[in-house]
Amino acid sequence: MKISSAPFGVTPTGEEVQIFSLSNHHGVEVKIINYGGIIVAINVPDRNGKIDDVVLGHESLDGYLNRSRYFGALCGRYANRIAHGTFRLHDVDYKLATNNGPNHLHGGLRGFDKVVWTADAKADVLQLTYASRDSEEGYPGNLSVRVNYSLTDENELRIEYFATTDKDTIINLTNHSYFNLAATGTVLDHQLTIHADAFTAVDNALIPTGELRAVAGTPMDFNSATPIGARIEVNHEQLRRAGGYDHNFVLHTGEAKLRTVTEVYEPATGRVLMVSTTQPGMQFYSGNFLDGTIVGKNGRAYIKHSGFCLETQHFPDSPNHPNFPSTVLRPGEQYHQVTVFKFSIR
Ligand code: GLA
Repeated sequence: MKISSAPFGVTPTGEEVQIFSLSNHHGVEVKIINYGGIIVAINVPDRNGKIDDVVLGHESLDGYLNRSRYFGALCGRYANRIAHGTFRLHDVDYKLATNNGPNHLHGGLRGFDKVVWTADAKADVLQLTYASRDSEEGYPGNLSVRVNYSLTDENELRIEYFATTDKDTIINLTNHSYFNLAATGTVLDHQLTIHADAFTAVDNALIPTGELRAVAGTPMDFNSATPIGARIEVNHEQLRRAGGYDHNFVLHTGEAKLRTVTEVYEPATGRVLMVSTTQPGMQFYSGNFLDGTIVGKNGRAYIKHSGFCLETQHFPDSPNHPNFPSTVLRPGEQYHQVTVFKFSIR
């Protein structure tokens, strides 16, 4: 892998942002900026060798500063939703910033997707670090976070997350890339497989009710490859609530080891994306809130369903659900999660 860097702009507070390009022997290139740890581009070949950028995003920093839909972003301290922005830890009630109606989403008003990370491009890894101070966005404890990005010659983008804290806190980190393996149109024809028997059912505000509901016999069952659009309009209460898919799939509730959990195949180009992760859950989001008002790279208007996200994560609102795997991090412990996005063709 080779890493090169170039200036990408300056934030309103005068912080310089760099763009890093990770490339391998197969012409695959991943571009990442240290503002929000954002993946700006993933250039991969199709079955005829044609290279396209398979993620949504912006050409310049201005787009990321002003028209954020978490495109490509590194979300934290707690990715996804926390009901009313409140949780209780050791008999203390914490109040987080609310930025999604009455709820907390993706780390709050200024989550990890909106801060400038310290970047260190080593020989085989791009390392981003960020020191999140005690009470930032309402969270307890000084948290020091490190995220490693690397690209292998097997066309794998590997993202590795580490964190430590000086007080008990909660943590849930993810990457919010919107993929479109055809690099055009919507993703409704993409064939999706998710190895999961259950999902966390949600209420009208997309907050888990606490129920782990079986996917069998519902439009949430992706255990065999199914086009994303095949059942998206079905009159099903969970799909209606989200305007499509915006649900956390239960991958496992056991030991954190790297498992292959998802495969996406795009028939026109032959591109395949495989996702492996140590995380217990994954939010499958079908870009329901995109409405064509954001114009991104190459002048493309991002209409509804023009990208899908596979946000490997802990379950949303876990701090308020004792039956979900714990997201508490204590002093002396190391948070460690790995997600691998592997690109190939068929
Ligand atoms: C996540 C959420 C969605 C939405 C997007 C950002 O995927 O689950 O509901 O907030 O982020 O638009």
